[in-house]
Amino acid sequence: KETREKKEKNKFRQRFWEVAGSKMGAITGLTDKEKEEAEKAKEEQQEAMGVEDDVDEDGNVKATNRFKDHLKASEAASEFSKSKTIAQQRRSLPVFQVRDELMQVVRENQVVIVVGETGSGKTTQMTQYLHEEGYSNWGNIGCTQPRRVAAMSVAKRVSEEMGVELGEEVGYAIRFEDCTSSKTIIKYMTDGVLLRETLSAEDLDSYSAIIMDEAHERSLNTDVLFGILKKVVARRRDFRLIVTSATLDAQKFADFFGSVPCYHIPGRTFPVEVMWSKTPQEDYVLAAVKTVMTCHLKSEGGDILVFLTGQEEIETACYALQERMDHLEQQGVDKPLMILPIYSQLPADLQAKIFEKAPDGVRKCIIATNIAETSLTVDGILYVIDTGFAKTKVYNPKMGMDALQVFPVSQAAANQRRGRAGRTAPGECYRLYTESAFRTELLETSVPEIQRTNLANVILLLKSLKVDNLLEFEFMDPPPQENILNSMYQLWILGALDNTGELTTLGRHMVEFPLDPPLAKLLLFGSDLGCGEEVLTIVSMLSVPSVFFRPADRAEESDAAREKFFVPESDHLTLLHVFQQWKANKFRADWCSRHFLHAKGLKKAKEVRTQLCDIMESQRIKTTSCGGNWDVVRKAICAAYFHNAARFKGIGEYVNCRSGLPCYMHASSSLYGLGYTPDYVVYHELVYTTKEYMQCVTAVDPEWLAELGPMFFSIKVSHTSRLEQRRLEREHKESMAQEMEEARAKKDEREKRA
Ligand code: CDP
Ligand code: MG
Repeated sequence: KETREKKEKNKFRQRFWEVAGSKMGAITGLTDKEKEEAEKAKEEQQEAMGVEDDVDEDGNVKATNRFKDHLKASEAASEFSKSKTIAQQRRSLPVFQVRDELMQVVRENQVVIVVGETGSGKTTQMTQYLHEEGYSNWGNIGCTQPRRVAAMSVAKRVSEEMGVELGEEVGYAIRFEDCTSSKTIIKYMTDGVLLRETLSAEDLDSYSAIIMDEAHERSLNTDVLFGILKKVVARRRDFRLIVTSATLDAQKFADFFGSVPCYHIPGRTFPVEVMWSKTPQEDYVLAAVKTVMTCHLKSEGGDILVFLTGQEEIETACYALQERMDHLEQQGVDKPLMILPIYSQLPADLQAKIFEKAPDGVRKCIIATNIAETSLTVDGILYVIDTGFAKTKVYNPKMGMDALQVFPVSQAAANQRRGRAGRTAPGECYRLYTESAFRTELLETSVPEIQRTNLANVILLLKSLKVDNLLEFEFMDPPPQENILNSMYQLWILGALDNTGELTTLGRHMVEFPLDPPLAKLLLFGSDLGCGEEVLTIVSMLSVPSVFFRPADRAEESDAAREKFFVPESDHLTLLHVFQQWKANKFRADWCSRHFLHAKGLKKAKEVRTQLCDIMESQRIKTTSCGGNWDVVRKAICAAYFHNAARFKGIGEYVNCRSGLPCYMHASSSLYGLGYTPDYVVYHELVYTTKEYMQCVTAVDPEWLAELGPMFFSIKVSHTSRLEQRRLEREHKESMAQEMEEARAKKDEREKRA
């Protein structure tokens, strides 16, 4: 009987791959030869993944056993979440076993480092324990997260556990969204929010305790908070700080705070078997899709978690998976799979879906960015498919800006990913890279963000916290000096710092806005030019995900709808136009859907606008309107983005004025293919897909560039060679560094004398 079953299974599998293969050809329009190659690659892949194990006799036994194990494990996993009440679930978490001991350590020490496996209950439980122990009697309990999604979803979970409305006793705050009230005692927030709070309350007096969560991620803001909180701890004896880490680099944190105790929550994990790819994968998205199907078809139960790098890839994978599933269903195979994407820009209600229980007999397949690596825990995952890549923000000195680029993850991150499969039962991890790549090509741990990104925001913030000499600030891993200097230079060209590195009036105003420096400058400069009202709208629209809705099956229709809003010389003005039209139509949602616009996104932009407007008013910054004279608005945009100027070269192609690197007009831009090609443009940012595309472009007058960015552009010497320009830039930086040095020396001298 067993052999017959085996044969059936094999036959089924073969048919599936035939179907999937032909389907794939249909999707991608492969030639026969390509299909043949794809077929071969597929076979190799299956072999590499050990899928064919159960064909031959020996392998068979193993695979069948594994299969059985999985059945048991997945039963256990689903039992786990089905049968337990919230109270029981709380008590079954590893941190509960050590609750009293942990709370004693916290009582006796101002700072404690807590290490525990992901899912042991650090984030959801420790805030509640502190509250139960009475810490909330003299202040709030705060918990920081590097990611917005985590802050929101964890707060929601904890409010459920405590049986209160979200936003009352338990709330969260992320940029532009404050879901707390006067009742709030437990507050989850992004590390950026807490960092901004230190601007107005240096000692964080409203908090009795802070949990700095996910410290191992070493986000830029967390790293800066380390230095700031260390001072708070020294000044306030009643204050408690808990730093959590999912990995073992915790000793470094303990040393930083002066040999504080490191508390380990005993783990409870199950073994995870690792399957390596035998050859490097050319297309890891496709490989991931195939591996999902393999896992899905070979077993019953147990959810799947896939790691990809970003929204676009995730959508591609979801689409490809859905196609394969539809096809299977047409073939009469009843084996439903619930495909659930998650990435930071996904609307919150869709994000929440990954935590919902699937209907009986349905398997969940979560396709995520590294958001699911440590900050979100979903129970019942038995298969992890790790492509080995993640998008990372890095400063590109050549372009003078940050860019999100796809990089291999670190070994530590890969092991975190693997661990996600062994939370509730023994699992499997498919690594879509070779074992030797893991050993030789992956870094042991990731480089902290502070050492690889633009620091302009942080510098602005620290300057206004009166940290004059950044080299003296206590960083756990100080950023490279060149990084500091580059970012200061950026602030200088924007006019936020003077020659000696002190904040200017403009700089002091800029700090008040939770925005990147160029956007803050756009607001302030626009206000000066009398178009505060207009730039407010543009900045708000740039602070939310794209409001244009472009469903794959109605692409042409939606493109036509979008074109109706185009302002030929500017994408920024197009955004303004959209918002104004929406306003003229009484902010109606049905109007949005008729014009292929996301109503939610627009609503969010409106909220952001209100908040920014409040800040402007409190700073007594004018918000007057320029009426229909939108050239003024373009000039304001030019003032904020002249460092991103590009000169026309040939159809669709531009060159960056500073770096000389080519960049391209995207087909979705309102400046694209309208028979109108401006000589000079500025852009909001560059995105890398197949080429460097300029995102959000506005045509500008060359005179403006010369007027507003004299350090880069001059009309007379517009043909200065790029080498010359680079030399000038270098000289600027050097003389600035020197002036700062001198100013500092003078100040030290003065202080000494005093
Ligand atoms: O922080 P740590 O990784 O140690 O664990 P946690 O996030 O506190 O998660 C503890 C438990 O709460 C896990 O079993 C999660 O599945 C559950 N949880 C949940 O059901 N929904 C959330 N939004 C967050 C956590
Ligand atoms: Mg956590």
